[in-house]
Amino acid sequence: MSDNKTAIVTGASDGIGLELARIFARKGHHVTLVARRGDRLEALAAEIVAAGGEAPLVVALDLCAEGAAERLEAALADAGRSAEFLVNNAGFGLIGRVAELDPNEQLACVDLNIRTLTGLTLRFLPAIVAARGGILNVASVASFMPGPGFAVYYASKAYVRSFSEALAEELKGAGVRVTALCPGPVRTGFQARAGFDYKGEMMAMRPALLPASEVARQGYEALAAGRRVIVPGLVNKFFVLAGRLAPRAFLMPLLARAQRAR
Ligand SMILES: NC(=O)c1ccc[n+]([C@@H]2O[C@H](COP(=O)([O-])OP(=O)(O)OC[C@H]3O[C@@H](n4cnc5c(N)ncnc54)[C@H](OP(=O)(O)O)[C@@H]3O)[C@@H](O)[C@H]2O)c1
Repeated sequence: MSDNKTAIVTGASDGIGLELARIFARKGHHVTLVARRGDRLEALAAEIVAAGGEAPLVVALDLCAEGAAERLEAALADAGRSAEFLVNNAGFGLIGRVAELDPNEQLACVDLNIRTLTGLTLRFLPAIVAARGGILNVASVASFMPGPGFAVYYASKAYVRSFSEALAEELKGAGVRVTALCPGPVRTGFQARAGFDYKGEMMAMRPALLPASEVARQGYEALAAGRRVIVPGLVNKFFVLAGRLAPRAFLMPLLARAQRAR
């Protein structure tokens, strides 16, 4: 039995978030599962209970809808729970040129990846500080460089990593851990939502691909160890290093070509 604390996991209905929820539950945390597809959250909750975990709190909502954060906070209060961990995982990207993509969809990406993540962090921070808990923000290797052909998404993830690292420094005396999880490519619902798949570039991507469960495991362990940034996988670490060292004038056309090939 846990106390009244919970680990909130956004985007727990699929992909990396689903695996993060599984691992938090396996490690003995009570979890609060958040996403729009309530049926998938209920199925995950049943699986966690069947595996011997405490019954999760399921909150099916669109995090970009007006008043979503208030509704989530109210659901926790009704269940007598307070946040000890917050996993800001829900996010999406859109492949294509800024001038050609739907402006509203691009703003929805900023809304979810930046505004929602920041809003949830600010809202639950007092409880997390009181519990000496932690925040795991899912950024991306995309956070380390601009992404022509995927510009809004890459920029949104740069925000996530920058915000996380700064917050970690501010909170270091408070016993609160903040980690930016920066995965490379992972096969999830992400690709279809973004408007591509890995067919055309399978051979090139294969060395970098990791399963969502492995990415989640490394994210959880980095948070537990108090690491501020984790890039799972050697190939992805190399990609990040190369992106940091290579001159922008050389890197940008290469990245633009890679996105166009998708
Ligand atoms: N896959 C990759 O290659 C990759 C690489 C680096 C970083 N990431 C990051 O990893 C995170 C998870 O992505 P993923 O790859 O696991 O993608 P995914 O399989 O598409 O999962 C996205 C999750 O976010 C939820 N979500 C989307 N919009 C939402 C909204 N408005 N309100 C509430 N929940 C919402 C989805 O649930 P519902 O549809 O049920 O709402 C789903 O559970 C994202 O932040 C992504 O940017 C992914």
